[in-house]
Amino acid sequence: MTDTDNLAAAADASIAAAIAQIEAAADLSALEAIRVALLGKQGSISALMKTLGAMAPEERQARAPAIQALRQQASDAIAARKTALEGAALEAQLAAEALDLTLPAPEAPRGTVHPVSQVMDELAEIFADLGFAVATGPEIEDDWYNFTALNMPESHPARAMHDTFYFPDTAPKGGRMLLRTHTSPVQVRTMLAEGAPLRIIAPGRVYRSDSDATHTPMFHQVEGLVIDRDIHLGHLKWTLETFLKAFFERDDIVLRLRPSYFPFTEPSVEVDVGFALVDGRRVLGGSGDAAGHGWMELLGSGMVNRRVIEASGLDPDEWQGFAFGVGVDRLAMLKYGMDDLRAFFDGDVRWLGHYGFSAFDQPTLSAGVGARA
Ligand code: PHE
Repeated sequence: MTDTDNLAAAADASIAAAIAQIEAAADLSALEAIRVALLGKQGSISALMKTLGAMAPEERQARAPAIQALRQQASDAIAARKTALEGAALEAQLAAEALDLTLPAPEAPRGTVHPVSQVMDELAEIFADLGFAVATGPEIEDDWYNFTALNMPESHPARAMHDTFYFPDTAPKGGRMLLRTHTSPVQVRTMLAEGAPLRIIAPGRVYRSDSDATHTPMFHQVEGLVIDRDIHLGHLKWTLETFLKAFFERDDIVLRLRPSYFPFTEPSVEVDVGFALVDGRRVLGGSGDAAGHGWMELLGSGMVNRRVIEASGLDPDEWQGFAFGVGVDRLAMLKYGMDDLRAFFDGDVRWLGHYGFSAFDQPTLSAGVGARA
Protein backbone atom coordinates (compact mmCIF):
# COMPACT_ATOMS: atom_id res chain seq x y z
CA MET A 1 0.00 0.00 0.00
CA THR A 2 1.22 3.50 -0.89
CA ASP A 3 1.08 6.46 1.51
CA THR A 4 -1.87 7.77 -0.39
CA ASP A 5 -3.71 4.49 0.03
CA ASN A 6 -3.00 4.61 3.74
CA LEU A 7 -4.29 8.13 4.07
CA ALA A 8 -7.39 7.32 2.04
CA ALA A 9 -8.11 4.25 4.09
CA ALA A 10 -7.66 6.18 7.31
CA ALA A 11 -9.91 8.94 6.04
CA ASP A 12 -12.60 6.49 4.96
CA ALA A 13 -12.50 4.83 8.30
CA SER A 14 -12.66 8.09 10.20
CA ILE A 15 -15.29 9.96 8.16
CA ALA A 16 -18.09 8.15 9.93
CA ALA A 17 -16.51 9.08 13.27
CA ALA A 18 -15.96 12.66 12.09
CA ILE A 19 -19.61 13.02 11.11
CA ALA A 20 -20.70 11.60 14.44
CA GLN A 21 -18.44 14.18 16.13
CA ILE A 22 -19.89 17.00 14.02
CA GLU A 23 -23.40 16.01 14.93
CA ALA A 24 -22.50 15.86 18.60
CA ALA A 25 -20.80 19.32 18.67
CA ALA A 26 -22.37 21.09 21.64
CA ASP A 27 -21.84 24.64 20.47
CA LEU A 28 -20.51 26.79 17.66
CA SER A 29 -16.94 26.93 18.98
CA ALA A 30 -16.69 23.14 19.34
CA LEU A 31 -18.00 22.85 15.78
CA GLU A 32 -15.41 25.32 14.53
CA ALA A 33 -12.61 23.28 16.16
CA ILE A 34 -13.81 20.18 14.28
CA ARG A 35 -14.00 22.12 11.01
CA VAL A 36 -10.40 23.27 11.42
CA ALA A 37 -9.24 19.72 12.22
CA LEU A 38 -10.89 18.38 9.05
CA LEU A 39 -10.95 21.17 6.48
CA GLY A 40 -8.49 23.74 7.82
CA LYS A 41 -5.06 24.27 6.22
CA GLN A 42 -3.54 21.47 8.32
CA GLY A 43 -6.79 19.47 8.42
CA SER A 44 -6.89 15.74 7.65
CA ILE A 45 -9.21 16.05 4.64
CA SER A 46 -7.13 18.95 3.30
CA ALA A 47 -4.04 16.71 3.57
CA LEU A 48 -5.86 14.11 1.51
CA MET A 49 -6.73 16.75 -1.10
CA LYS A 50 -3.06 17.69 -1.34
CA THR A 51 -2.10 14.11 -2.25
CA LEU A 52 -4.08 14.51 -5.49
CA GLY A 53 -1.43 16.91 -6.83
CA ALA A 54 1.32 14.30 -6.58
CA MET A 55 -0.67 11.58 -8.42
CA ALA A 56 -0.36 10.49 -12.00
CA PRO A 57 -3.26 11.78 -14.08
CA GLU A 58 -5.06 8.42 -14.31
CA GLU A 59 -4.79 7.72 -10.63
CA ARG A 60 -5.97 11.22 -9.83
CA GLN A 61 -8.98 10.75 -12.09
CA ALA A 62 -9.80 7.54 -10.28
CA ARG A 63 -9.33 8.83 -6.77
CA ALA A 64 -10.48 12.44 -6.96
CA PRO A 65 -14.25 11.82 -6.91
CA ALA A 66 -14.04 9.82 -3.67
CA ILE A 67 -11.82 12.37 -1.91
CA GLN A 68 -13.95 15.28 -3.07
CA ALA A 69 -17.08 13.46 -1.94
CA LEU A 70 -15.48 13.02 1.46
CA ARG A 71 -14.78 16.74 1.68
CA GLN A 72 -18.31 17.52 0.54
CA GLN A 73 -19.83 15.18 3.12
CA ALA A 74 -17.84 16.76 5.93
CA SER A 75 -18.64 20.35 4.95
CA ASP A 76 -22.36 19.55 4.44
CA ALA A 77 -22.49 17.98 7.88
CA ILE A 78 -20.74 21.02 9.39
CA ALA A 79 -23.13 23.47 7.65
CA ALA A 80 -26.17 21.49 8.81
CA ARG A 81 -24.94 21.40 12.40
CA LYS A 82 -24.14 25.10 12.26
CA THR A 83 -27.69 25.97 11.18
CA ALA A 84 -29.10 23.79 13.93
CA LEU A 85 -26.88 25.32 16.62
CA GLU A 86 -27.65 28.88 15.50
CA GLY A 87 -31.37 28.15 15.50
CA ALA A 88 -31.15 26.76 19.01
CA ALA A 89 -29.21 29.83 20.21
CA LEU A 90 -31.87 32.14 18.76
CA GLU A 91 -34.65 30.09 20.37
CA ALA A 92 -32.88 30.31 23.72
CA GLN A 93 -32.46 34.08 23.38
CA LEU A 94 -36.11 34.55 22.42
CA ALA A 95 -37.19 32.45 25.37
CA ALA A 96 -34.98 34.41 27.75
CA GLU A 97 -36.25 37.79 26.48
CA ALA A 98 -39.91 36.81 26.30
CA LEU A 99 -42.51 39.34 27.45
CA ASP A 100 -45.64 37.93 28.96
CA LEU A 101 -48.33 39.93 27.20
CA THR A 102 -51.02 38.23 29.24
CA LEU A 103 -49.86 39.93 32.49
CA PRO A 104 -52.68 42.09 33.89
CA ALA A 105 -52.45 45.89 33.56
CA PRO A 106 -51.52 47.80 36.75
CA GLU A 107 -54.57 48.45 38.91
CA ALA A 108 -54.16 52.21 38.67
CA PRO A 109 -52.22 54.28 36.14
CA ARG A 110 -48.72 54.77 37.56
CA GLY A 111 -47.77 58.05 35.85
CA THR A 112 -48.08 61.36 37.67
CA VAL A 113 -48.35 64.98 36.61
CA HIS A 114 -45.06 66.80 37.35
CA PRO A 115 -45.40 69.54 40.00
CA VAL A 116 -44.16 72.11 37.46
CA SER A 117 -46.98 71.18 35.07
CA GLN A 118 -49.46 71.19 37.93
CA VAL A 119 -48.35 74.63 39.12
CA MET A 120 -48.51 76.02 35.58
CA ASP A 121 -52.08 74.73 35.34
CA GLU A 122 -52.85 76.34 38.68
CA LEU A 123 -51.43 79.66 37.45
CA ALA A 124 -53.42 79.49 34.20
CA GLU A 125 -56.59 78.81 36.21
CA ILE A 126 -56.03 81.68 38.64
CA PHE A 127 -55.10 84.20 35.95
CA ALA A 128 -57.84 83.08 33.56
CA ASP A 129 -60.28 84.11 36.29
CA LEU A 130 -58.66 87.58 36.27
CA GLY A 131 -59.04 87.84 32.49
CA PHE A 132 -55.51 86.86 31.46
CA ALA A 133 -54.83 84.76 28.35
CA VAL A 134 -51.83 82.42 28.08
CA ALA A 135 -49.15 83.53 25.58
CA THR A 136 -46.02 81.71 24.46
CA GLY A 137 -42.76 82.46 22.69
CA PRO A 138 -39.78 80.48 21.40
CA GLU A 139 -37.09 79.12 23.73
CA ILE A 140 -34.49 79.63 20.98
CA GLU A 141 -34.66 83.40 20.86
CA ASP A 142 -33.19 86.32 19.01
CA ASP A 143 -31.12 88.61 21.23
CA TRP A 144 -33.19 91.54 19.98
CA TYR A 145 -36.28 90.19 21.79
CA ASN A 146 -34.38 88.81 24.78
CA PHE A 147 -32.31 91.96 25.39
CA THR A 148 -32.37 94.89 22.95
CA ALA A 149 -36.13 95.46 22.84
CA LEU A 150 -36.17 95.11 26.64
CA ASN A 151 -33.94 98.18 26.93
CA MET A 152 -30.71 96.21 27.18
CA PRO A 153 -28.61 97.36 24.21
CA GLU A 154 -25.43 95.53 23.18
CA SER A 155 -23.18 97.11 25.80
CA HIS A 156 -25.66 96.98 28.69
CA PRO A 157 -24.08 95.47 31.83
CA ALA A 158 -27.30 93.59 32.67
CA ARG A 159 -26.64 91.35 29.67
CA ALA A 160 -23.52 90.00 31.37
CA MET A 161 -25.55 89.18 34.49
CA HIS A 162 -27.74 86.72 32.61
CA ASP A 163 -25.18 83.91 32.08
CA THR A 164 -26.54 83.44 28.57
CA PHE A 165 -26.17 80.37 26.39
CA TYR A 166 -25.43 81.74 22.91
CA PHE A 167 -25.61 79.98 19.56
CA PRO A 168 -22.95 80.62 16.91
CA ASP A 169 -25.65 81.68 14.42
CA THR A 170 -26.34 85.28 13.52
CA ALA A 171 -29.90 86.34 14.33
CA PRO A 172 -32.25 87.83 11.70
CA LYS A 173 -31.97 91.28 13.32
CA GLY A 174 -28.17 91.11 13.22
CA GLY A 175 -27.37 90.00 16.77
CA ARG A 176 -26.97 86.45 17.98
CA MET A 177 -29.38 83.61 18.63
CA LEU A 178 -29.57 82.42 22.23
CA LEU A 179 -31.59 80.34 24.67
CA ARG A 180 -33.94 82.84 26.26
CA THR A 181 -32.76 83.83 29.73
CA HIS A 182 -36.24 84.91 30.90
CA THR A 183 -39.84 84.94 29.69
CA SER A 184 -39.78 88.73 29.25
CA PRO A 185 -39.22 88.55 25.44
CA VAL A 186 -42.79 87.23 25.26
CA GLN A 187 -43.92 90.69 26.43
CA VAL A 188 -42.45 92.24 23.29
CA ARG A 189 -43.61 89.47 20.96
CA THR A 190 -47.18 89.67 22.26
CA MET A 191 -47.42 93.46 22.06
CA LEU A 192 -46.05 93.37 18.51
CA ALA A 193 -48.45 90.60 17.48
CA GLU A 194 -51.60 91.73 19.28
CA GLY A 195 -51.26 95.41 20.12
CA ALA A 196 -53.11 96.84 23.13
CA PRO A 197 -54.96 96.44 25.46
CA LEU A 198 -53.46 93.17 26.72
CA ARG A 199 -53.62 90.86 29.70
CA ILE A 200 -51.38 87.80 29.42
CA ILE A 201 -49.29 85.36 31.38
CA ALA A 202 -46.44 83.57 29.61
CA PRO A 203 -45.22 80.43 31.37
CA GLY A 204 -42.28 78.48 30.01
CA ARG A 205 -38.72 77.26 30.12
CA VAL A 206 -35.77 79.62 30.44
CA TYR A 207 -32.02 78.92 30.44
CA ARG A 208 -29.00 80.25 32.29
CA SER A 209 -25.53 78.82 32.65
CA ASP A 210 -25.78 78.24 36.39
CA SER A 211 -26.05 75.13 38.55
CA ASP A 212 -26.34 74.36 42.29
CA ALA A 213 -29.05 73.28 44.77
CA THR A 214 -31.24 76.27 43.90
CA HIS A 215 -30.18 76.90 40.28
CA THR A 216 -30.43 74.61 37.26
CA PRO A 217 -29.36 75.51 33.69
CA MET A 218 -33.02 75.19 32.67
CA PHE A 219 -35.83 76.38 34.89
CA HIS A 220 -39.35 77.76 34.55
CA GLN A 221 -40.74 81.26 34.79
CA VAL A 222 -44.12 82.82 34.35
CA GLU A 223 -44.30 86.32 32.97
CA GLY A 224 -47.31 88.55 33.56
CA LEU A 225 -48.13 91.57 31.43
CA VAL A 226 -51.00 94.04 31.52
CA ILE A 227 -51.13 96.88 28.98
CA ASP A 228 -54.03 99.29 29.06
CA ARG A 229 -54.81 102.95 29.67
CA ASP A 230 -54.08 104.49 33.09
CA ILE A 231 -52.51 101.39 34.62
CA HIS A 232 -50.55 102.13 37.80
CA LEU A 233 -48.61 100.39 40.58
CA GLY A 234 -51.79 99.88 42.61
CA HIS A 235 -53.09 97.54 39.89
CA LEU A 236 -49.83 95.60 40.07
CA LYS A 237 -49.96 95.22 43.83
CA TRP A 238 -53.62 94.15 43.84
CA THR A 239 -53.04 91.64 41.07
CA LEU A 240 -50.03 90.07 42.79
CA GLU A 241 -51.83 89.91 46.13
CA THR A 242 -54.91 88.32 44.60
CA PHE A 243 -52.77 85.84 42.67
CA LEU A 244 -50.61 84.83 45.64
CA LYS A 245 -53.57 84.46 48.01
CA ALA A 246 -55.30 82.18 45.51
CA PHE A 247 -52.11 80.25 44.74
CA PHE A 248 -51.06 79.62 48.34
CA GLU A 249 -54.71 79.29 49.41
CA ARG A 250 -54.22 81.66 52.35
CA ASP A 251 -55.87 85.01 53.01
CA ASP A 252 -53.06 86.20 55.28
CA ILE A 253 -50.42 86.56 52.54
CA VAL A 254 -48.67 89.91 53.08
CA LEU A 255 -46.49 91.54 50.44
CA ARG A 256 -43.70 94.06 50.79
CA LEU A 257 -42.73 96.08 47.75
CA ARG A 258 -39.12 97.27 47.59
CA PRO A 259 -37.64 99.63 45.00
CA SER A 260 -35.37 97.75 42.63
CA TYR A 261 -33.96 97.93 39.13
CA PHE A 262 -34.73 96.12 35.89
CA PRO A 263 -33.89 97.75 32.54
CA PHE A 264 -37.36 96.91 31.18
CA THR A 265 -39.45 98.33 34.03
CA GLU A 266 -39.52 101.84 35.50
CA PRO A 267 -40.06 102.04 38.36
CA SER A 268 -39.02 98.50 39.27
CA VAL A 269 -40.31 96.71 42.32
CA GLU A 270 -38.97 93.64 44.06
CA VAL A 271 -41.76 91.81 45.89
CA ASP A 272 -41.17 90.02 49.18
CA VAL A 273 -43.67 87.82 50.96
CA GLY A 274 -43.94 87.46 54.73
CA PHE A 275 -43.39 84.08 56.37
CA ALA A 276 -43.42 82.56 59.84
CA LEU A 277 -40.75 80.17 61.10
CA VAL A 278 -42.54 77.03 62.26
CA ASP A 279 -40.27 74.21 63.49
CA GLY A 280 -37.46 75.64 61.40
CA ARG A 281 -39.60 75.67 58.25
CA ARG A 282 -40.76 78.81 56.49
CA VAL A 283 -44.53 78.94 56.28
CA LEU A 284 -45.91 81.76 54.14
CA GLY A 285 -48.39 84.13 55.80
CA GLY A 286 -48.44 87.14 58.07
CA SER A 287 -46.26 90.22 58.05
CA GLY A 288 -42.54 89.53 57.82
CA ASP A 289 -42.02 92.19 60.49
CA ALA A 290 -43.83 90.26 63.25
CA ALA A 291 -41.79 88.43 65.90
CA GLY A 292 -40.52 85.08 64.60
CA HIS A 293 -41.33 86.12 61.04
CA GLY A 294 -39.28 87.23 58.06
CA TRP A 295 -39.47 88.42 54.47
CA MET A 296 -38.61 86.24 51.51
CA GLU A 297 -37.80 87.65 48.07
CA LEU A 298 -40.33 86.23 45.63
CA LEU A 299 -40.49 88.05 42.33
CA GLY A 300 -39.46 90.97 40.16
CA SER A 301 -41.91 93.42 38.67
CA GLY A 302 -42.57 97.02 37.75
CA MET A 303 -44.24 99.41 35.36
CA VAL A 304 -43.30 98.55 31.78
CA ASN A 305 -40.55 100.93 30.64
CA ARG A 306 -41.68 103.44 27.94
CA ARG A 307 -38.81 102.30 25.76
CA VAL A 308 -40.11 98.71 25.79
CA ILE A 309 -43.61 99.87 24.85
CA GLU A 310 -42.08 101.90 22.01
CA ALA A 311 -39.91 99.02 20.78
CA SER A 312 -43.07 96.89 20.81
CA GLY A 313 -44.80 99.24 18.38
CA LEU A 314 -47.13 101.04 20.81
CA ASP A 315 -47.39 104.70 21.82
CA PRO A 316 -46.23 104.96 25.47
CA ASP A 317 -48.23 108.17 25.94
CA GLU A 318 -51.38 106.22 25.26
CA TRP A 319 -50.56 102.80 26.72
CA GLN A 320 -49.04 101.91 30.08
CA GLY A 321 -48.80 98.70 31.97
CA PHE A 322 -47.11 96.52 34.51
CA ALA A 323 -45.14 93.30 34.21
CA PHE A 324 -43.83 90.71 36.59
CA GLY A 325 -41.72 87.58 36.37
CA VAL A 326 -41.59 84.75 38.88
CA GLY A 327 -39.90 81.36 39.08
CA VAL A 328 -42.45 78.55 38.66
CA ASP A 329 -40.16 75.92 40.19
CA ARG A 330 -39.68 78.16 43.23
CA LEU A 331 -43.45 78.62 43.58
CA ALA A 332 -43.83 74.84 43.47
CA MET A 333 -41.10 74.34 46.10
CA LEU A 334 -42.69 76.90 48.43
CA LYS A 335 -46.16 75.45 48.05
CA TYR A 336 -45.38 71.73 48.08
CA GLY A 337 -42.28 71.66 50.29
CA MET A 338 -39.44 70.35 48.12
CA ASP A 339 -36.01 71.66 49.04
CA ASP A 340 -33.72 70.62 46.17
CA LEU A 341 -34.48 72.10 42.77
CA ARG A 342 -32.24 69.59 40.96
CA ALA A 343 -34.59 66.74 41.87
CA PHE A 344 -37.24 68.40 39.68
CA PHE A 345 -35.30 67.37 36.60
CA ASP A 346 -33.83 64.00 37.62
CA GLY A 347 -36.86 62.01 36.41
CA ASP A 348 -36.67 59.72 39.48
CA VAL A 349 -39.96 57.79 39.64
CA ARG A 350 -39.83 57.68 43.43
CA TRP A 351 -39.71 61.49 43.57
CA LEU A 352 -42.40 61.76 40.91
CA GLY A 353 -44.56 59.23 42.76
CA HIS A 354 -44.24 61.27 45.94
CA TYR A 355 -44.55 64.84 44.61
CA GLY A 356 -46.49 64.19 41.41
CA PHE A 357 -50.21 64.74 40.99
CA SER A 358 -53.03 62.57 39.77
CA ALA A 359 -54.16 63.44 36.25
CA PHE A 360 -57.65 63.75 37.75
CA ASP A 361 -56.45 66.48 40.08
CA GLN A 362 -57.37 69.39 37.81
CA PRO A 363 -56.90 72.72 39.53
CA THR A 364 -60.16 74.66 39.69
CA LEU A 365 -60.99 77.75 41.71
CA SER A 366 -64.11 76.18 43.19
CA ALA A 367 -62.40 72.94 44.28
CA GLY A 368 -59.14 74.64 45.25
CA VAL A 369 -56.18 75.20 42.98
CA GLY A 370 -53.95 73.02 45.10
CA ALA A 371 -56.36 70.20 46.03
CA ARG A 372 -54.78 66.78 46.25
CA ALA A 373 -56.82 63.66 45.68
N1 PHE B 1 -37.25 89.02 33.68
C1 PHE B 1 -36.89 89.26 35.06
C2 PHE B 1 -35.94 88.15 35.53
O1 PHE B 1 -35.86 87.13 34.89
C3 PHE B 1 -38.09 89.31 35.96
C4 PHE B 1 -39.02 90.44 35.67
C5 PHE B 1 -40.05 90.29 34.77
C6 PHE B 1 -38.84 91.66 36.29
C7 PHE B 1 -40.93 91.35 34.50
C8 PHE B 1 -39.69 92.72 36.02
C9 PHE B 1 -40.72 92.56 35.14
O2 PHE B 1 -35.27 88.28 36.52
